[in-house]
Amino acid sequence: MKKFVIEQSPPLLGEITVSGAKNSVLKIMAATLLADGECTIDDVPDLLDVHVMIEILQELGSEVHYDQANGQLKTKVVDKLKHVVPYDLTAKMRASIVVMGALLARTGRAKVALPGGCAIGARPIDLHIKGFSSLGVNVSMEHGFVEGRVKERMHGSHIYLDFPSVGATENIMMAAVLAEGTTILENAAQEPEITDLASFLVKMGANISGAGTSTIRIKGVEKLNGVYHQVIPDRIEAGTYMLATAVTKGKVLIKNVLTTHLRPVISKLDEAGVTITEYDDSILVDATKGFHKVDITTLPYPGFPTDMQAQFMVLLILSKGMSVVKETIFENRFMHVNELMRMGANIKLDGSSALIQGVPGLEGAQVKATDLRAGAALVIAGLVAAGRTEIYEPDHINRGFVSIEKKLQGVGAKIWRE
Ligand code: UD1
Repeated sequence: MKKFVIEQSPPLLGEITVSGAKNSVLKIMAATLLADGECTIDDVPDLLDVHVMIEILQELGSEVHYDQANGQLKTKVVDKLKHVVPYDLTAKMRASIVVMGALLARTGRAKVALPGGCAIGARPIDLHIKGFSSLGVNVSMEHGFVEGRVKERMHGSHIYLDFPSVGATENIMMAAVLAEGTTILENAAQEPEITDLASFLVKMGANISGAGTSTIRIKGVEKLNGVYHQVIPDRIEAGTYMLATAVTKGKVLIKNVLTTHLRPVISKLDEAGVTITEYDDSILVDATKGFHKVDITTLPYPGFPTDMQAQFMVLLILSKGMSVVKETIFENRFMHVNELMRMGANIKLDGSSALIQGVPGLEGAQVKATDLRAGAALVIAGLVAAGRTEIYEPDHINRGFVSIEKKLQGVGAKIWRE
């Protein structure tokens, strides 16, 4: 059985360089389906999810060349695009649904098997469908597939999202760029990955304003071109290494970051007594003086990211006193709690809140990575737990972290794959 093995490690010391953002690159890859001509993307992280997206693009009729050593990906739509994404691909990655907007815009048809992915709640796609319908797409659900058809061309529309869903914002944006007329998307998600996708689409020739705010205006254009783009750094990977540094009471310079994207994590670490120094494109995390408890509520960006909730929980488990973590984005995102309790954590779940009573230390144990960010939390816990921790189902971690064991070994961690 594949696993990560971690032994109690000294405080992390040194430098770690962050890779390109998973949640950005996957959507940018989907958007390449819209281009007439070749797209070149730099800083593409070598992750399982990226390889799944490559398979999807190839399945649909795009020629893809990925130079893993240099992190460069080239794509070109060579044939008439197919419109079906089969279950064996969407089951591997929920974000597959995000090709739907681009396919509808480019071919007028899209049939995508309903997605799998992280086990963190029901994760419906009603907001995506609401947006597509409003743009003139006829949407139906049958035999585990969602299918959309456009009679002639999609038309611009005024869409209000009940919740600022990241995926729905991206999908609607990619559909609307080639629609006739103007689309106004209100209560849109404001995550940095949305802004990155919009800046890629604008380079291609799209007319988009307001991305990164709650109202996005998209004026449809006739065609989009192949372009060059460099993906933003992964704020969740950066945040994960910031937490690993803090929890081990270490001192690490995290390189290749956009500090503005990390504001909520920086602010909470600062409140917890960790010293953070910001430079142009790096952050020094110094936790050698220790840390103390804080409370956390996850919120849509620019609030505290749900994707950092599990990792931050490890710090709270080891802080004196009682702290509260409230999860407002996903309804079932406490799968890591049971695993952390097996390592000695004292946590009570009360609906969408976790009440954490600090303990002096954790013990190594055999645990399971239930999803990507939960896996990252177990890695952090393993670094400080007494003895040996074995993390099973490591593929969840490989979905979202480039060479996590090598990056951590570089700052003194005792972690390896078996
Ligand atoms: C993206 C990120 C994920 C992150 C999440 C929230 C990618 C590949 N994944 O996921 O890492 O945790 O944003 O920041 O970018 N919802 C609905 N109906 C919909 C769509 C969503 O009810 O049509 C609900 C979801 O069930 C969830 C919440 O909205 O409870 C947030 O989902 P969403 O923002 O869409 O997240 P994803 O795009 O799936």
